[in-house]
Amino acid sequence: MCDKNETLELLMKRKSMRVYEEREVPAPIKKQILEASLRAATAGNMTLYTVIDVTKQSLKDMLAVTCDHQPFIASAPLVLIYCADYRRWIQAFRQVEEEVRHPSYGDFMLAASDAVIAAQTAVTAADALGLGTCYIGDILENYEKHRELLHLPDYVVPVAMVVGGYPTLQQKERRQTSRFASEDIVHENRYDLEKSDRMMEMLEEKEDWKEDLQGHLRSFCARKWNCAFSEEMSRSVKAMLDAWVNAQ
Ligand SMILES: Cc1cc2nc3c(=O)[nH]c(=O)nc-3n(C[C@H](O)[C@H](O)[C@H](O)COP(=O)(O)O)c2cc1C
Repeated sequence: MCDKNETLELLMKRKSMRVYEEREVPAPIKKQILEASLRAATAGNMTLYTVIDVTKQSLKDMLAVTCDHQPFIASAPLVLIYCADYRRWIQAFRQVEEEVRHPSYGDFMLAASDAVIAAQTAVTAADALGLGTCYIGDILENYEKHRELLHLPDYVVPVAMVVGGYPTLQQKERRQTSRFASEDIVHENRYDLEKSDRMMEMLEEKEDWKEDLQGHLRSFCARKWNCAFSEEMSRSVKAMLDAWVNAQ
């Protein structure tokens, strides 16, 4: 049996929180969250991202619409958008080299990884300071609109968004969502098809799914896969990547 560990306890009790008290996150607390976020690992120690701290209410209101109509975004005291960003480095390289190649797909993956790792570090820091947070995947939609709203130049694209604040009691007391067993998700040394093929059993083991597995799966597929938001996300990410690799 391992000793009690504060960090692990914090990680094990994490959940998304979507309703916040009507009070601001004090500036020194926000600073601590952002400083912790910047301490995350970063490829080549290049900090290949920019964080947009959204403080303007009218911008939050817009994002609540453009990010698939999620009104709670507008009432979140903390709204952070993590953008993959090569602009700073390209500009610097151009100061010393005549020929500087444009960022491509590999560069995008590195910068996007940097941005997501920094975002998750902000989530953990916020949790540690008593806040609650939620990711907003829909920042990947409406690329053209978000580019305009956030004044994003070439080589800068939004990849992750985190909203948060001090959670209401109801949110704090809400049950955690379930997860698949680690034995099903962790494979040793090679991809294990047998484990992967257990998916229907894995779903049946979910407490709230087992009663009507087929029905649950059908409606989940309609909500999360065969749906308008995922189509828009793919269109938008393609436009974003096309702009990324074709920028002059
Ligand atoms: C990449 C990503 C995108 C997400 N996007 C949204 C979102 O747009 N809206 C939302 O309410 N929750 C969003 N979530 C939160 C998930 O719905 C949540 O993590 C999941 O249901 C598990 O619940 P838990 O975080 O409370 O454990 C997102 C999470 C991730 C990791």
